Amino acid sequence: RSVFVLNGPNLNLLGTREPAVYGSQTLADVQQLCESACARHGLALQFRQSNHEGDLVDWIHEAGRLHAAGQLAGVVLNAAAYTHTSVALLDAVKGSGVPLVELHISNVHARESFRHHSYIASAARAVMCGFGVPGYALAIDAVAGW
Ligand code: DQA
Repeated sequence: RSVFVLNGPNLNLLGTREPAVYGSQTLADVQQLCESACARHGLALQFRQSNHEGDLVDWIHEAGRLHAAGQLAGVVLNAAAYTHTSVALLDAVKGSGVPLVELHISNVHARESFRHHSYIASAARAVMCGFGVPGYALAIDAVAGW
């Protein structure tokens, strides 16, 4: 079985982007952490990032098909800013039926009020934020049990 770890807009800039908020680790570091976490559970990793909303929609659909075929444990989604704007991502999660963790590196509830609302949360199986980059490994540990 596999796990999809999907990253949305601007997460390609991790490491240099607002390091006081997101830390100094790069997206390549996040990918390595996820590889290790998946290896511990004998899961295959699909690790992706896009700045384009439709790519994320397509990947959630793909994950839903694999889940229906018994080939995918779940999805870890950091939709970044699209979390707070995208009805399309909500509909994709609902429509695909895929079990999903909504993840944020930062504690979005301690930040600007526009980050307090998530369109995705109501369709997610679990929501986590504020654990920093290590949160990705925690999320994979949880998905491995699904
Ligand atoms: C984020 C939080 C979002 O509010 C923000 O737009 C991001 C990253 C996080 O990982 O903390 O781009 O999802």
